[in-house]
Amino acid sequence: MYEGDIASVLISEDQIQDKIAELAGIIAERYPVGAPEGDLLLVGVLKGAVFFMTDLARALPIPTQMEFMAVSSYGSSTSSSGVVRILKDLDKDIAGRHVLIVEDIIDSGLTLSWLMRNLRTRNPASLEVVTLLRKPDAIKVDVEVANVGFDIPDEFVVGYGLDYAERYRDLPYIGTLEPTVYGG
Ligand code: PRP
Ligand code: MN
Ligand code: MG
Repeated sequence: MYEGDIASVLISEDQIQDKIAELAGIIAERYPVGAPEGDLLLVGVLKGAVFFMTDLARALPIPTQMEFMAVSSYGSSTSSSGVVRILKDLDKDIAGRHVLIVEDIIDSGLTLSWLMRNLRTRNPASLEVVTLLRKPDAIKVDVEVANVGFDIPDEFVVGYGLDYAERYRDLPYIGTLEPTVYGG
């Protein structure tokens, strides 16, 4: 698939799935089953987080519920601008619930920082984040993230939910793109 477009595999399918199992074990310990606040509420950030969200939910040994939010940053498709708009809001009230935001990647941190501020005003019982990937060298705003799968170099990556111009999300691994694909 996408022959000639992928320069290298950065994180393999096996590495991703092993990491999800590890994260699921750590996360499950922090959320008591049968709490008065109800089941842990996973809030997936569309569209990038969909694959991580579904794999994580099934790896977690505790009951979870799912909500989705779609936000998008304006700007070019390979870098974020920091201007965030809501394309789809949550369907349900999260007041008093234990909420775990599920993201595929923290790049500049602008999306997540905005999202956390927004969700905190809705008074959840707790608000945490799990992200599969983080680019420490690209961070522009500090975001408190309890759970990180992999820290990666500041390169443009695709696959496992991450796109370039809406393509490559369906790859089961994280790869780097050949610069020729985005006109390099
Ligand atoms: C990407 C990615 C994160 C965000 C990270 O989403 O999925 O949500 O950017 O960037 P930041 O830390 O610099 O804010 P995008 O806005 O491309 O939408 P998508 O998930 O639909 O691809
Ligand atoms: Mn996204
Ligand atoms: Mg994107």
